Amino acid sequence: MRILTGIQPSGDLHIGNYFGSIKQMVNAQKTDETFAFIANYHAMSSGNGGERLAKLTMQTATDFLALGIDPEKSTFWVQSDVKEVLELYWVLSAFTPMGLLERAHSYKDKVAKGISANHSLFSYPVLMAADILLYSPDIIPVGKDQIQHVEIARDIAIKFNNEYGDVFKLPEFRIEENVATVPGTDGQKMSKSYNNTVNIFGEEKKQLKSIKKIVTQNVPMEAPKEYENCNVYNMAKLFLDENESIKLQERYRAGGEGHGHFKLYLHDVIWEYFKPYREKKEYFETHQDEVKEILNAGAIKAKETINPLIEKVRALTGISY
Ligand code: ADP
Ligand code: TRP
Repeated sequence: MRILTGIQPSGDLHIGNYFGSIKQMVNAQKTDETFAFIANYHAMSSGNGGERLAKLTMQTATDFLALGIDPEKSTFWVQSDVKEVLELYWVLSAFTPMGLLERAHSYKDKVAKGISANHSLFSYPVLMAADILLYSPDIIPVGKDQIQHVEIARDIAIKFNNEYGDVFKLPEFRIEENVATVPGTDGQKMSKSYNNTVNIFGEEKKQLKSIKKIVTQNVPMEAPKEYENCNVYNMAKLFLDENESIKLQERYRAGGEGHGHFKLYLHDVIWEYFKPYREKKEYFETHQDEVKEILNAGAIKAKETINPLIEKVRALTGISY
């Protein structure tokens, strides 16, 4: 099956991103045909641009390679290196009723919050439709917030196909049911925008500091503690096998240790887990030319994939004359 995903280059990755998305993608490489791109055009719609965007693009590419995106197995590129996506975006715009975009949650939410939405935010779903339809994927793995965008891509594809025949494959989204929402340090969903993240990379001291911020119950040291609703336990169990989880549960029940001890343990577990990935990141950080070469080769592969389709679209729409 062909699986496609776009990643916004929006900053430091956290363990919610890892378990909610990156790990699934890395696993999918073993069984499926995987396409993953850095959605740098999309990042512009939320105000990223200039030197910052260029840096974030390279940082995100470096991080994904470090975390296991394998360019031998996946097609991995930067969105803007395949300009045909902008061409298709325009073609699809002609098949996109205004009402469809006016109903899009992400745009409505921003407007409701008083953010003055610009055209890129309004037309973002059309660009996302172009990203998807250009590569004829079977499946788009998404978080709940992105379902509507895949549905819009389907609607646009149907409109185009009604006019010109069976050109675009209708995409299906897949919600990762067994992927739990990773809690943040305050117990809400971990998210950059809530300032409650534990980041994958960065200084050890900083990571320890964010782990110490995790909100826990106030129970005397000697008393037994509940692990079920403890944010420290819930985060730790993502990294532990069954035996290790049971051992940690026993430590909670036994009493005699405070949440501070469990936090130190959690830090050790996370730090150890990401050690090989840190080493790979250091390698790619000191070999940025290699990262660029990988991205260039990915863009060439991506273009080869889309060429027949974009030629067909040009011919049918009369752009080729
Ligand atoms: P953020 O909320 O920090 O801005 P993004 O929206 O950029 O994160 O998310 C990127 C990917 O990571 C998405 O696929 C999203 O579903 C996943 N993800 C983000 N936060 C979590 C979380 N707390 N639990 C599980 N998955 C998450
Ligand atoms: N909109 C997605 C997000 O914010 C990123 C994205 C852009 C994407 N184009 C895509 C995801 C195509 C899947 C397919 O996370």
